[in-house]
Amino acid sequence: MVDAMAAERARLGAQPLPRAVEEALRAVPREAFLPGLPLTEAYDPHQAVVTKRDDERGVALSSVSAPTIVATMLERADLRPGHRVLEVGSGGYNAALIRRLVGVDGQVVSIDIDPEVVARAERCLKSIGVDDVHLAVGDGAHGFAARAPFDRIIVTAGAWDLPPAWEQQLTEDGVLVVPMRIRGLTRCLTLRRAPEEGCWEAVAVDMCGFVRMRGRDEHWEAMPCLHDEDGCQVALRLEDGPEVEEKALREALACEPVTVWSNVEVGAEEPTDSQDLYLASVADRWAQLTAERGAIKAGLVSPISRLGTPALISAEGTGFAYRTLRRCPGRADRWEFGAVGHGPHARATAEHLAHLIGEWDRDHRRGPGPRITLFPATTPDDRLPGGRVVDKRHTRTVLTWTITP
Ligand SMILES: C[S@@+](CC[C@H](N)C(=O)[O-])C[C@H]1O[C@@H](n2cnc3c(N)ncnc32)[C@H](O)[C@@H]1O
Repeated sequence: MVDAMAAERARLGAQPLPRAVEEALRAVPREAFLPGLPLTEAYDPHQAVVTKRDDERGVALSSVSAPTIVATMLERADLRPGHRVLEVGSGGYNAALIRRLVGVDGQVVSIDIDPEVVARAERCLKSIGVDDVHLAVGDGAHGFAARAPFDRIIVTAGAWDLPPAWEQQLTEDGVLVVPMRIRGLTRCLTLRRAPEEGCWEAVAVDMCGFVRMRGRDEHWEAMPCLHDEDGCQVALRLEDGPEVEEKALREALACEPVTVWSNVEVGAEEPTDSQDLYLASVADRWAQLTAERGAIKAGLVSPISRLGTPALISAEGTGFAYRTLRRCPGRADRWEFGAVGHGPHARATAEHLAHLIGEWDRDHRRGPGPRITLFPATTPDDRLPGGRVVDKRHTRTVLTWTITP
């Protein structure tokens, strides 16, 4: 598994994993946290394994995270022997790795909102002889004051906001690694305190996907359904999105679509996550389209991803456009981005989306991505830097893009 991860990093031109993280990954048997799973799956670097599901809502409640993102988060956390670490969201595997990295002088607290998850993690840790991780049941949004302060807080559930307890319980030079939902996109932010009181600066931004954080800070976005036939559902996810008229958008989906191509190409393995973040930053009427397999098969929609494809709501609110992709003629390894518009202003909305994709390609594709800064919710507008401001209960997140030709 570790060799495969190292080879992938080399192929993608990424830094090799820190030696200590690599050693920990080699030492902790992941299979012990996934009893009964075939070894090929237990050691698949990209496989997150769902261990608990909410069947009614059709969402995962708990999982043993994929080794690649676990490794990235451990790398970002820069764990040292002696560190006191709070892990929010248990499973056992990550806690065992942290335990190894912080050594006998360190301390690991792992808290999960679900008592069954904690009991399972405890059993699995015990099976490999780890009995000095402090496991607790509770809402991680409150941190774990009894063992604070922490040098590192590593959150392993998708957070929507930054609760004050994390700030209060982290040391002055502490690091907070947290998968954060920003306008519906989840990015793992590595946060350090900025010089201004109560502010945070993201020093790294990584792609990730996590189960949603539950409890006090749980947050669900609006999701109007545009087509609700079983197995063929199409919906729009509207996190911070505009008010829409569901009936008009359902009618829009039924209209003949208009496709506009952008002339922006992409290679098979080329990361384009900064494009999603850019579109989410600059589009006021931002949305994400989700579609079940049946809807794509039936030709209702042709998005790039079923789970959340960048989309825009038209200015009038009666239509939308989403991103699509086609193979470049005669070149098996190149693809072109496009936009599919639906509704009375289908062409204009699709052209607008294609234009924004072009802007990303011209000005930001080769750049470092946005600067992401978090300010206290009470910060007035005139104290914020320029950029997209995303308001939450406790924080104001600002995404600032600088042109990199
Ligand atoms: C992806 S799993 C954790 C994976 C784990 N760290 C591992 O070693 O693979 C996310 C966990 O977060 C938990 N969770 C969700 N909301 C929480 C909250 N408010 N406080 C603590 N845990 C929470 C879920 O119950 C779930 O078990």
